[in-house]
Amino acid sequence: MDILKEAAIDPAPLADKRVAIIGYGNQGRAQALNLHDSGIDVVVGLRGGSGSTNEVEAAGLRTALVEKAVASAEVVMLLAPDEIHGALYKEIEPHLRQGTALGFSHGLSVRFGFVSPRADLDVFLLAPKGPGTALRSLYKEGKGMLALWAVHQDATGNAKDIALAYGRAIGCARAGLISSSFAEEAEADLFNEQGVVWGGVPELLIAGFETLVDGGVSPEVAYLECVGELHLIAELIEARGIAGMRDVISNTAELGALLGGKRIIDESVRARMRDILDEVRAGRFADDLRREEANGYSRLEAARSEAHGALIEKTRKRLSGEN
Ligand SMILES: NC(=O)c1ccc[n+]([C@@H]2O[C@H](COP(=O)([O-])OP(=O)(O)OC[C@H]3O[C@@H](n4cnc5c(N)ncnc54)[C@H](OP(=O)(O)O)[C@@H]3O)[C@@H](O)[C@H]2O)c1
Repeated sequence: MDILKEAAIDPAPLADKRVAIIGYGNQGRAQALNLHDSGIDVVVGLRGGSGSTNEVEAAGLRTALVEKAVASAEVVMLLAPDEIHGALYKEIEPHLRQGTALGFSHGLSVRFGFVSPRADLDVFLLAPKGPGTALRSLYKEGKGMLALWAVHQDATGNAKDIALAYGRAIGCARAGLISSSFAEEAEADLFNEQGVVWGGVPELLIAGFETLVDGGVSPEVAYLECVGELHLIAELIEARGIAGMRDVISNTAELGALLGGKRIIDESVRARMRDILDEVRAGRFADDLRREEANGYSRLEAARSEAHGALIEKTRKRLSGEN
């Protein structure tokens, strides 16, 4: 698979175009500022009464109401939360010019049918593989974040060139642009969120913390062991890979990891991971997300308040001097 770098990408397809960024949250802010600093004509589309207006204007960016921003642009990037893409697309569709390039940073809403783009549009994916805060700080350091790109619909024949030029302008091509598809990106991302980094890892930390506390260890020591060392392994894996991480830890830690790791992540865990992947592909999570939005995010709110009241969080605050 090719990893395209900046030097191999022509910036021209974006040079004479206006880009409307819809949504100024985590990704919207970073992408709008990076584009602007790369010399691209950017307008940030905000809903009426948006609390972000002052911040966007203070950053030196032009703002307009969503439908005005969309109507004025040749490239429109949907960077509002995924679960509202369906309603948002219906609102903006009448304002999209013929042949506009419609971009996404996650394949979900197209892969699972929240959005069915008009046939005359180019539809591309440029998905930075990390949070907007890091996308922005890397750009300012002269670096970039790896991103996946894909074309869902190529009405004008220019969709690929625009996607790559967009990835270059937000700085991702400094690290590399990797070819994917809306389905692959969406399914792999949703799988990881549930089964690995965002779902699996925190639950592993909590289970380890609670096992030690139930076994008579003080919450402070349990926290330092099970949670406090996480950044160390993350940094080592980032810098050296999993094999390289093992090269630099003690023989004691390495043997412990060898004996314990596969007992914890055994075949039953892999079987449940396969179940999660099957469910994601069948659209079950996309249905859950739609339902959650329709129910006013009640399940997420309840989980947030439970997490903030848990012993592991109280212990973190004590250790960090927050209370
Ligand atoms: N979070 C990340 O770093 C990350 C990483 C990779 C990909 N992505 C993808 O990037 C996209 C954006 O995610 P995000 O986390 O950046 O979103 P977010 O921070 O939750 O987006 C919030 C922004 O969306 C705006 N918004 C909400 N509802 C709107 C509506 N009905 N009309 C217009 N604007 C509306 C908000 O407007 P107000 O200012 O008016 O409240 C706010 O500016 C998603 O597709 C996501 O999967 C995100």
